[in-house]
Amino acid sequence: MTRMARLRLSLLGSSRKCSGFGRLMSEISEYFARFRQIKVHVRTLFLVLACSVITLLYLTHGVTNSFAGLSVSAGSVVQRNGHIRVENETVSRRKLDKSYIDEVKRVRLLCIILTMEKDIPTKVAAVNQTWASRCDIHFYVLNSKIRKSDFLNINDVPDDRFHLVHKIQEVYKIIHKLYLNDFDYVLKADDDTYIVVENLKFLLWHYNSSEPGYLGFHFNKFVSSGYMSGGAGYVISNRGLRNMIERGYNGGLCLIVKHNDDPENSEDIETGRCLEASGVPVLSSLDVEGRETFHPYQLEKHLFGNLPGYIYSWAKNPIEKGARCCAKYVISFHYMTPDAILFVDHLLYYTDVFSKHLNGENTLPAFKIERVK
Ligand SMILES: *[C@@H]1O[C@H](CO)[C@@H](O)[C@H](O)[C@H]1NC(C)=O
Ligand SMILES: *[C@@H]1O[C@H](CO)[C@@H](O)[C@H](O)[C@H]1NC(C)=O
Ligand SMILES: *[C@@H]1O[C@H](CO)[C@@H](O)[C@H](O)[C@H]1NC(C)=O
Repeated sequence: MTRMARLRLSLLGSSRKCSGFGRLMSEISEYFARFRQIKVHVRTLFLVLACSVITLLYLTHGVTNSFAGLSVSAGSVVQRNGHIRVENETVSRRKLDKSYIDEVKRVRLLCIILTMEKDIPTKVAAVNQTWASRCDIHFYVLNSKIRKSDFLNINDVPDDRFHLVHKIQEVYKIIHKLYLNDFDYVLKADDDTYIVVENLKFLLWHYNSSEPGYLGFHFNKFVSSGYMSGGAGYVISNRGLRNMIERGYNGGLCLIVKHNDDPENSEDIETGRCLEASGVPVLSSLDVEGRETFHPYQLEKHLFGNLPGYIYSWAKNPIEKGARCCAKYVISFHYMTPDAILFVDHLLYYTDVFSKHLNGENTLPAFKIERVK
């Protein structure tokens, strides 16, 4: 933050403080008036001086501490078509609070969760008890005879990992046909993925769902623009999904053929190939400090740097351990057992730390918002 920006903010803050001290100030000025009969304009001058002194005190005694939670170094609020965007300038977080939280909540997220019939009582139960119901619409994709309102049974594709790409292509076609007007973004996740839906919506709110785009944990491998880890969950914008079906599938650009480097036709790689062929760009999912929001392994693996070797060369962005492993507004972890899902969900949603949010809540800017490829 520039010094001028700080000054502007602290002036704002201390003028509020001064009006808060109104009674005290008028008592002081009455005191002076009674005993010295000071003229009105001089008293006003006194008040202005007092405010300036308070401002200077804030500047010299850690304005960052006093206002860090209330200010951001970038962002004037621009309202376009009901979307608020944050651009370069200084704003007070207070101005953003109410309106942008409502805007973020209004981002419509359709979640599709790949699963299997045998995992209904365990994995599906944990996902359904936690994050799936926070999506605006959610579907479990499987191949079973069980009928449930949130089951999308794909009965003509075998229920094994070698046919995931065929399965997901059927799902995308169904969504395109039946739900195109009901979502801004579609999330594809697995039944061992944990998603913080609110943080995902916060990131997506920065982008425009009417523009093609997709994001997630970015692997720089197999596809020239890379692809997004399937297990960490990835998100396609409404326009991106349309382009994928209308240009990619219907235009014959997304045929599933054997590749030497990926003979199994992995779902995430094939989807990446198809999105690239359909002209859907990769968008950044990093936070403003360059930390990852989506994670292809569990929190503890990322935190302790206990990850398989391949990931360090495959990952598009540098993998970091320790606190820098994960964005404040973290979005996903993978390979989560049902117990781990319930454990993390409990810590995030049902416990808190006293006084934690007095400073620094919902500070902007939060993410690196840009087109990557
Ligand atoms: C979003 O993108 C669409 C299509 O390019 C455009 O018409 C619209 O103005 C954009 N909305 C915002 C808020 O930028
Ligand atoms: C915002 O500010 C940063 C740093 O001052 C600059 O690099 C970037 O280009 C600016 N972005 C826009 C959209 O003006
Ligand atoms: C998931 O939870 C919702 C209620 O939030 C319920 O209506 C639905 O039937 C559940 N789905 C499964 C598969 O248990």
